[in-house]
Amino acid sequence: MIVRSAARLAAILLLLPVAAVAQDAPMLSPASTFAEADGAALFANVCQACHMPAGQGAAGAGHYPALAKNPNLEAGAYPVYVVVHGLKGMPPIGKMMTDDQVAAVVNYLRTNLGNAYTDPVTAQDVADARN
Ligand code: HEC
Repeated sequence: MIVRSAARLAAILLLLPVAAVAQDAPMLSPASTFAEADGAALFANVCQACHMPAGQGAAGAGHYPALAKNPNLEAGAYPVYVVVHGLKGMPPIGKMMTDDQVAAVVNYLRTNLGNAYTDPVTAQDVADARN
């Protein structure tokens, strides 16, 4: 019994790096690499790692600006540009998203976390910003 579960554990440990590589591999693809379509889910999966769950930002090893109550989001073109092209310490993470996904996460951000900019950005805005 102990031997068998030890063997299973060993097998799982052997598989782990393979699974990790398999998960990372799509990051290299220029196509969309995030499954989420919903802005809230995209924010939770992609943005909050750096900007924190409530968008409050963080200071530590680096400075991650607050996205909550952020007046820089008033012009929708700005966050679209930052997501698509990156900004200094922020990677151009929109290159791994579809136009619809970038629009969804930007629209989520601009209407949540204390922001209330109700004029939505469109997938076309994102496509234009990529050029
Ligand atoms: C790897 C960490 C990281 C991730 C992931 C990340 N950001 Fe950022 N973001 C930053 C950093 C760092 C800055 C500040 C860049 C600077 O000005 O030096 C920033 C800046 C911004 C700004 C500009 C804020 C301002 O007031 O000028 C916006 C908007 C933004 N990020 C949105 C997003 C969105 C939306 C996502 C998810 C799609 C996201 N970020 C994911 C690190 C990140």
